[in-house]
Amino acid sequence: MELAYLIYKSTPTLTEKDLPEIAEQSKHNNIDKWLTGLLVYGNNEFIQVLEGAENDIKTLYQKLLSDKRHTNLKVVKKGILERRYFPTWSMGFHSVNKEEMELIDKALEGHSIEPVSGYLALEMMTGFIKRLG
Ligand SMILES: Cc1cc2nc3c(=O)[nH]c(=O)nc-3n(C[C@H](O)[C@H](O)[C@H](O)COP(=O)(O)O)c2cc1C
Repeated sequence: MELAYLIYKSTPTLTEKDLPEIAEQSKHNNIDKWLTGLLVYGNNEFIQVLEGAENDIKTLYQKLLSDKRHTNLKVVKKGILERRYFPTWSMGFHSVNKEEMELIDKALEGHSIEPVSGYLALEMMTGFIKRLG
């Protein structure tokens, strides 16, 4: 099986109190499909990394497109991986502040960024994106 990844951005239409429900729902489904990754929320934006079988990612992305809890979905990057970067995270979730989200955005745009300290999730997200090139 080829291991695929997809990173998309979207605009949340929900409030922060609805986030645990998404995390719970995602964990449950993702364990079933062995989808792993990370969902980051902040600065009125979601960025989610999904890794797993290409078909499973496609199926989930179709569901995500019609999920009313966010809108304006855009695929930022997708491709094939040699190994999982989030092997134990059926869906890691982390809230970040505006500055941190801007760092992630910059990494996605391909700008070089300074090493960030602090949040593990942020480091993992930016490290992952940098390695993708
Ligand atoms: C930002 C965001 C991220 C989501 N991430 C996932 C995910 O990783 N896995 C998942 O199964 N559902 C995720 N969902 C929920 C799906 O859109 C959908 O509601 C859910 O998969 C439907 O589950 P069901 O088929 O069990 O009813 C996410 C929703 C939002 C708004």
